[in-house]
Amino acid sequence: MWFFSSPAIVFGESSLSYLSQVPIQRAYIVSDANLAAAGLVKKVIDHLPEQAQIVGEYCAVEPDPTLETAVQGARLMLDARPDWILAIGGGSVIDAAKAMWILYERPDMQADAINPVEVLGLRKKARLIALPTTVGTGSEATWATVLTDPRENRKLGLGNRECLPDIAILDPIMVQSLPLPILIDTALDALTHAIEGYTSTWHNVFSDGLCLKAAEMICATLPCCVSDPNSTDYRADLQNAATIAGLGFGNSMAALAHGMGHALGGIFHIAHGKAVPMFLPYTIDYSLGGEHDSTRYRPLAALLSLPASTEQEAGANLAVYLRELMSMMGQPGSIAELGIPRHEFEANMSVLVDNALNDTQTIMGTRIPDLPDLEKLFRAAYDGRRIDF
Ligand SMILES: [Fe+2]
Repeated sequence: MWFFSSPAIVFGESSLSYLSQVPIQRAYIVSDANLAAAGLVKKVIDHLPEQAQIVGEYCAVEPDPTLETAVQGARLMLDARPDWILAIGGGSVIDAAKAMWILYERPDMQADAINPVEVLGLRKKARLIALPTTVGTGSEATWATVLTDPRENRKLGLGNRECLPDIAILDPIMVQSLPLPILIDTALDALTHAIEGYTSTWHNVFSDGLCLKAAEMICATLPCCVSDPNSTDYRADLQNAATIAGLGFGNSMAALAHGMGHALGGIFHIAHGKAVPMFLPYTIDYSLGGEHDSTRYRPLAALLSLPASTEQEAGANLAVYLRELMSMMGQPGSIAELGIPRHEFEANMSVLVDNALNDTQTIMGTRIPDLPDLEKLFRAAYDGRRIDF
């Protein structure tokens, strides 16, 4: 038995106006300070239906939100009693809003105990609308929520099928002023979702087409958008592609690049969109060193017009293509280029490897690394070396 889940998706110009049709009585806004200061929260509020009352705002979600942020937001929601929660932001905001929502509906739960197995019984109190302001995380289309446990410097992949947003609204106006460096980070994260969603062992016939389409759109559009950063059309295409990739990997799974990126980001506080895409070519190198009967690089490489007569050739060309794309975008190609001193990297190796090994995404690739392989992979990624595994 398998599921395909999707929010209702409203996209394109003037999508925000759809809000006036939603029967919102008591709205609770979740966002961050920068977006509130940039006027994006106000843009959304201006489109709420007449009867809607704003009963609370939590515009202080930090990058990589902690378990405590989720608990605080839920506590405020318990007093405010919203019937709709509006998450306005990137993945951090939307993930935090999902966790706040769960804890608001289920105050008996601990934040770190949110899991995909339990029946939560959400939507007795509220529903969730996600309004993404980046072009990457896809959180508006998935039921995952990543929270940080600061005591252990660890990112926790939590979530439950029930916390998929009810509605995702993709209005291009929400990404028009997204700064170019964040646009690049998040678009490359979305590309990683598309590639890992297509190649993970949980791929399926419903997610495949979405992942391929998203990969094609991002590879075609991102360089154009970087050359012409004010183009609304390119930005809208990337915004749509990110949600398509979100639907794709959200109904499949991400894989090893996410497992390693979460581990590195949790310890060294590196942005998700820098760490995860950086690892992707190394994890392709690693997968190519295993059996090729379940890898799926040929359709992806062919889509990008790369030579792909065998899985080996396709995967190797895809990894080269990704390294070149990231270099062209000015992205770091190694852990050293992220500015992490070697002694600090080595001092944290055992925690890095341990956290990557325990990340739920790590086991979703076609080749699952053991501890020594993960150390080798991290060291190769530190030095920017392509090695044969
Ligand atoms: Fe991601």
